[in-house]
Parts: sequence; C-alpha cells; structure tokens
Amino acid sequence: MTWSKFDRMLKRTAALITVLLLSTAGTASAREPLVVGGTLASVSEAPWAVVLTNTAATRESKRWCGGVLVAANKVLTAAHCAGERVASYGVIQGRADLTDHSLGRFSAVSKVWVHPAYSTATNRNDFAVLTLKKPMTGVPVLRLETNPKADRRGAVPTVYGWGDTADTGPDDTLQKLAVPDLGDATCLGIKGYAENGYTAAANICAGYMDGTGDACQGDSGGPLVLNGRLLGIVSWGRGCAEPQYPGVYAEIAPVAKTLVEQVR
Ligand code: ARG
Repeated sequence: MTWSKFDRMLKRTAALITVLLLSTAGTASAREPLVVGGTLASVSEAPWAVVLTNTAATRESKRWCGGVLVAANKVLTAAHCAGERVASYGVIQGRADLTDHSLGRFSAVSKVWVHPAYSTATNRNDFAVLTLKKPMTGVPVLRLETNPKADRRGAVPTVYGWGDTADTGPDDTLQKLAVPDLGDATCLGIKGYAENGYTAAANICAGYMDGTGDACQGDSGGPLVLNGRLLGIVSWGRGCAEPQYPGVYAEIAPVAKTLVEQVR
C-alpha cells in the first residue's frame, strides 16, 4: 500500500491518526512550533486560507482538508480531498479557531472539478477546484505562481493549515510554519519517495530533515506560499515531521494555465 493510499484510508478512519502522531510528538523541537511545529497564524495575514469541511469528517469541527481562495467563488484544494459528494462539502474562511462560530464565513459547494490527469497511483496532479455557492466577496485572493524556477533549494515558503499538530499547538486552529525548500534531489533521494510518485517537474520537497516540523493530516490542499504567491498545495508525506521524511507539495507553476481556466 502506498503512503498516499494510506493517507486516504486515514481520512476514512480518522480515529487512527492520533496513534500515528504520538510517535512524532516528541520529535518536534522547540525551535519552531507544526501544522506540526508551527505557530499561530491570524486570518489577517492569511485571509485566503480556508478550511474544507465534510459531513463525513469525524471531528466536531468537520475539518477535512485545507484550501486556498483563488477567486471570490473558487477554492483550490487537493484532488485527494475532493472525492466525496459535492453536497457533503463546505468552505470556511476567516475563522482561525474553528470552535469560534461567531467569526468567519461559510459557503456550500456547487461544483467540484478534479484535475483530469490526477493519479492515485503516483499522486501527480493532486489538484481540485471547488466552486462556492456563496462567493467570498471582498476577501483577498492568492495569486498563482507561474514561474517553475520559484521552486528552488534555499527558498523558504510558509505552509498554513488547521491540520493535526501532534500536540505542538491547539487543535483546529490556523497554524503556519516556514518550511525550507530542500530541492527535488532531496526527495528523489529518499527511499520510497520516487516510488510513491515524487517528480521534480511537478512536486516541491519542503520541510526539515531533522523532524522540526511539517504539514500533517488535515493540512492537505492548503497553501504553500512564497513571496505572496501560491507556490504549492499540501499533498503527501510519510507520517508527519518524521526525521528524514519532509513534506511533498503539488507544484502550481507547471499547471497554472490549466488552473486559471478553471478559475475564471
Ligand atoms: N495527506 C494529508 C492530508 O490529507 C497531509 C499530507 C501532508 N503530510 C506531510 N507529512 N507533509 O491532510
């Protein structure tokens, strides 16, 4: 079974997640708080970050995945998050703490588009675009990165999400983490990552080889941001914040044209 299939299985049987995370909780160093090892983020610094909810989620918040507002009525997320019935989805914007129902906005989803080349075998093209019933008018949207050279070793993008923290932060609360771009060679050199579909042309390898922090379950589909542009989408990884296993992101630039067609 590939890790991504494993991830999808986890989504359906969410109860196991905590058990898996216990082993990583002790490895997140104090240097930087997730996401695993992240710090609190505010809605004002990431207004385009949204939560994708699903009625099948076991958590009370119904948190399912992350997403990013790319037009008033369009949310980009991961294809592996978008396999349920359209009517089962919702999108929340403006609510850093998901228990605070007095804040933010909610919209139902009227349409789900999954990238036609999405492959569950290789995890390639892990992109989906949701159309909102109620546009989030007035909320700043995030521009797509179109330059494939923006993914370069040494850049330091930031990942945002409400996903699991392995007790490094509060649950269901927007966290952020700077994750150094480690370069494609790093992930291609990791046992299992190439077999699991990692490809230089369509993925970004980012995070910490020492397990300092990482995106985690529930962050999938959320934004990886560099210089005010959407560089990538949280896609997969082995566990979360495990030493030697950084995060894998779906790279926007190579598919920006295809995505833009879905966004207007
Ligand atoms: N696939 C997971 C999800 O559905 C998140 C993957 C990111 N994992 C990682 N270790 N960076 O939320």
